[in-house]
Amino acid sequence: MRRNRRDDWSRRLVSENRLTVDDLIWPVFVVEGTGVRQEVASMPGVARFSIDLLVEEARRAADLGIPAIAVFPSVEAALKTPDAAEAVNPDNLVCRAVRAVKKAVPRLGIICDVALDPYNSDGHDGLVIDDYVVNDRTNEILCRQSLVQAAAGCDVIAPSDMMDGRIKEIRQALDSAGFDHVRILSYAAKFASSFYGPFRDAVGSKSALKGGDKKTYQMDPANTDEALREVALDLSEGADMVMVKPGLPYLDIVRRVKESFSVPTLAYQVSGEYAMMKAAALNGWLDWDKVMLESLLAFKRAGADAILTYTAPEAARLLAK
Ligand code: PBG
Repeated sequence: MRRNRRDDWSRRLVSENRLTVDDLIWPVFVVEGTGVRQEVASMPGVARFSIDLLVEEARRAADLGIPAIAVFPSVEAALKTPDAAEAVNPDNLVCRAVRAVKKAVPRLGIICDVALDPYNSDGHDGLVIDDYVVNDRTNEILCRQSLVQAAAGCDVIAPSDMMDGRIKEIRQALDSAGFDHVRILSYAAKFASSFYGPFRDAVGSKSALKGGDKKTYQMDPANTDEALREVALDLSEGADMVMVKPGLPYLDIVRRVKESFSVPTLAYQVSGEYAMMKAAALNGWLDWDKVMLESLLAFKRAGADAILTYTAPEAARLLAK
């Protein structure tokens, strides 16, 4: 076995998987204001940007060859209500951000989450009635949220809420409003994971959630067959691409989804995964560049077609060398 490993040229020749910039999607956080750049404490190296700075960052990402960004709003506490009304405001922060980025950098794909957690005073992805996240009434709001985002210029609607039947309803809503070209990337197998902690800091949904969890709608980390049923349903309802989330601890799910359905399968290297690697690197315990690229290559080996990762710009720069 070692003959092929002997030289760099032969290692390159027999290499089975390759990470390229085309595999990367960059999740970004946006805040109100101008000239604002706020570091996210639990994600060193990741910041929330006001729209003007986000546009510059987006241009840089496109120049690096990154195909798409995923925009997440950090909404002021005063705008969070029990009915999450701000989610369907056509002039909300994320819609204004999408319009600005699309106008300045039209070649960059824009993905928007569909879920109520940035706008909900209780931090949940859906509407809470009598202490329960209700399904069908949430779907109605998610459809309206999808429409305002599509109207703002979002290319890919990414429902991350895990309500049942939402893909079908959102597809119908988009089609009847003339947005038949807008793609749906379903967070199909999204687990009730503790690796989302730093993200919830970044968008301010952690304090709203008050220590609660999302186990009545996100998947049990113990399950894999159930992930396949989720993916099958979302595909039958009209999803164009599916996602598995979190990433590294769930590569077995990525592999099974890709093998079972042969559809575009994305994976999300989530905030907690970023924070773990970064903390170790800042302590000098891991080599950041190497460990980051190795982790992204592992997604490719598992069968992922693309990876949402906070490391996208850094990875793109390293890959260009
Ligand atoms: C919200 C959403 C979450 C993430 C993406 N969309 C958090 C959650 O479900 O609580 C997590 C991303 C990350 O941790 O990087 N629906």
